[in-house]
Amino acid sequence: MAKLIYLMRHLRESGTDRKLQQLILELSEASKYIAHAIKTGEMGYAGTSNLYGEYQLTLDVLADKIIKERLDHTGLVSYMISEEMNGVTSSHKNSMGPYSVCYDPLDGSSLIDANLSIGTIISVMPGKQILQPGKNQVAALYFLYGPRAALIYTVGNGTHLFVLNDAYEYILQEEYITLNGFGNTYAPGGLKQKWTSKHAMFIHYLEDNGYKLRYSGAFAADINHLIAKKGGVFTYPALKDEESGKLRLLFELFPMAFIIEQAGGAASNGTMRILDIEPSDFSQRSPIYIGSKKEVRIAGKYLKKI
Ligand code: F6P
Repeated sequence: MAKLIYLMRHLRESGTDRKLQQLILELSEASKYIAHAIKTGEMGYAGTSNLYGEYQLTLDVLADKIIKERLDHTGLVSYMISEEMNGVTSSHKNSMGPYSVCYDPLDGSSLIDANLSIGTIISVMPGKQILQPGKNQVAALYFLYGPRAALIYTVGNGTHLFVLNDAYEYILQEEYITLNGFGNTYAPGGLKQKWTSKHAMFIHYLEDNGYKLRYSGAFAADINHLIAKKGGVFTYPALKDEESGKLRLLFELFPMAFIIEQAGGAASNGTMRILDIEPSDFSQRSPIYIGSKKEVRIAGKYLKKI
């Protein structure tokens, strides 16, 4: 029988910095509580709303609290910001911590009542600075809470997938994940009536070429689909009334772009690489085309058309 490889061993043997190992392990512990809460927790409203005016479900609030407390406990984080927090929260235990962390505690939380897969997305930046381009990230990871809980991480040395077993341990399922140069599925976000004509032409191209529709409504689940099927494209484009689209750079796009690039894919806003964007605002949004290289390149061609 093949030997099980635990997360701790994988991090150690891949030469990950000791402090970063500790941070990722703490986050993996936090995710176990979140996975458990999703299975057993309440689904009502918490009665508060976040910076973007969305209702927070109790599970969002709980997931946010679990991660925040874990990060605080490490003493390794000088600044942290989450999609559910109203602004930057500094970690009081160690303002000299070597990392800053941005996270979306429960991505796709509007799907909880539909019992579909949702996730937690995390970006780790070096130093005491949140507003940095995504290419500076030292780690990115997401947890997927589906029929099985999974962890996908990169520290800049490939993208690796772990699944949670019965004993609540993350076990390596696949390391150095490699997307194919092209895929056969597409996940198109945003209301069709609000698409620009250039974007609509790109989607027509995909449909005319036999791509199958796969869109769940949770970014983490849709990215995980690309990873599991080794290709395809996800897009949440610029809209006629919202040229930055919907998804947030710091909490969603930077970490997923890092993970997908490390798996041999690409991520662009249509004209430039996501990881090269210099953020100026915590809540900055961007259009996104992410997945295998061919589709992202073709999206760029359509978006440049006059
Ligand atoms: O940003 C939150 C989010 O739920 C993502 O997880 C998802 O990709 C997107 O919004 C779905 O948006 P829409 O409901 O417009 O398709």
